[in-house]
Amino acid sequence: MTMNVYIKDLAGHVGGEVTVQGWLHNKRSSGKIAFLIVRDGTGLVQGVMSKGDVDAGVWERVQQAEYEASVRVRGLVRADDRAPGGHELGLTDLQIIGRSSDDYPIQLKEHGVDFLLENRHLWLRTPRQVAIMRVRDELVKAIRDFMYDRGFVNVDTPILTGAIGESAGTLFQTDYFDLGTAYLAQTGQLYNEANAAALGRVYCFGPTFRAEKSKTRRHLTEFWMLEPEMAWCDSDCNMRFQEELVSYLVSRALERSRAQLEELERDVSRLQAVTPPFPRISYDEAVDRLQALGSEIVWGDDLGAEDETLVAQDYDRPVFIYNYPKQAKAFYMKENPDDPRTVLCDDLIAPEGYGELIGGSQREDDYEKLLARIREQGLPVESYGWYLDLRRYGTFPHSGFGLGLERTVAWVCGVHHIRECIAYPRTLNRLSP
Ligand code: 4AD
Ligand code: MG
Repeated sequence: MTMNVYIKDLAGHVGGEVTVQGWLHNKRSSGKIAFLIVRDGTGLVQGVMSKGDVDAGVWERVQQAEYEASVRVRGLVRADDRAPGGHELGLTDLQIIGRSSDDYPIQLKEHGVDFLLENRHLWLRTPRQVAIMRVRDELVKAIRDFMYDRGFVNVDTPILTGAIGESAGTLFQTDYFDLGTAYLAQTGQLYNEANAAALGRVYCFGPTFRAEKSKTRRHLTEFWMLEPEMAWCDSDCNMRFQEELVSYLVSRALERSRAQLEELERDVSRLQAVTPPFPRISYDEAVDRLQALGSEIVWGDDLGAEDETLVAQDYDRPVFIYNYPKQAKAFYMKENPDDPRTVLCDDLIAPEGYGELIGGSQREDDYEKLLARIREQGLPVESYGWYLDLRRYGTFPHSGFGLGLERTVAWVCGVHHIRECIAYPRTLNRLSP
């Protein structure tokens, strides 16, 4: 019996005989020598087998094994700088655990994206997709480490909710027993605010839902969002925290996901520039600049995707745009005491056209002002009773934000469309696999 080893650990077994379990990624065979590439999720390794060195049965199985068959191979580990991963296996045995078929849908050639999405369950096996999922995992862990190390308490918030979160137009609904309609959470923020009054600094991190009919490279209907909420933190403190977090995430990927970024051919010099402080420009200034560049934007509008790209192109790192007009933003943002037409908020726009990574704000902590905003926006005041309570019983200055995980992964990886940054993307016209 030889030891089962993950491909990533082969370096510790040079000169020894090991077993690797995985899937056949590629195969070339002349009459006498076969080259097999096996992948196991931790890496790829090339195995070489000579017909003369093995039993006829083994050689026969090598000929049979199809692309993506699951296999168990045994071989001698050799260091080889030219081999992918730096090691090669001198194969002595191959067992087929699960046959594949010559009609395996995803071949080592270009496919159209609709076809790939239809076969997402298999597309995930390809090296590029494996690399993206690993970077995502690293960023998730980095987020949790960052929050934990700073004393934040993770308090997750419900997915099924009765009240409205961001905007009434983009809610998914479902029947909820005798209680009428439930909505899938667009945000955990309102609950976070209650939790912050209990625990100080908190965050939730999970899936959120938007019934947005947008077909852009930046929109999913189900996406993951990190949402910190901080008591005793104003808008300036909020932005400082955001730039620290984002810089940390990028540095973690540079430190621990190098191999994946290489696989993705990411230009890492673009990421190395991402250090605090990030530039900040006010909404007013952004509008002036955009108008000078020929944008149709008028004061009061939210920035469109093209506007965001135009503003961001002047910078080598993410840029904050702060203090938007009230009418462009959600009801809960705090009125700017220096210009009551605007609110104390920020959007963090990524470079290279990746758009808004973060939306954040200081929250309205004045009971009367908040009530007036809820009424102005025609929201059902009854549903917000518990939220208003936070302003009735010990109101406090506080701020928070939401960071979109898939947009962050797309930017770090240099992947054009965020649908590749979640295992099973949900979009306007896709609910399977
Ligand atoms: O700006 P948004 O809508 O902010 C909120 O939901 C706040 N309640 C967050 C908070 O303050 N706690 O969304 C925050 C981020 C965006 O900047 C973007 O990165 C991401 O979530 N996002 C989406 N990502 C993918 N697909 C969508 N449809 C997204 N909508 C927002
Ligand atoms: Mg936003």
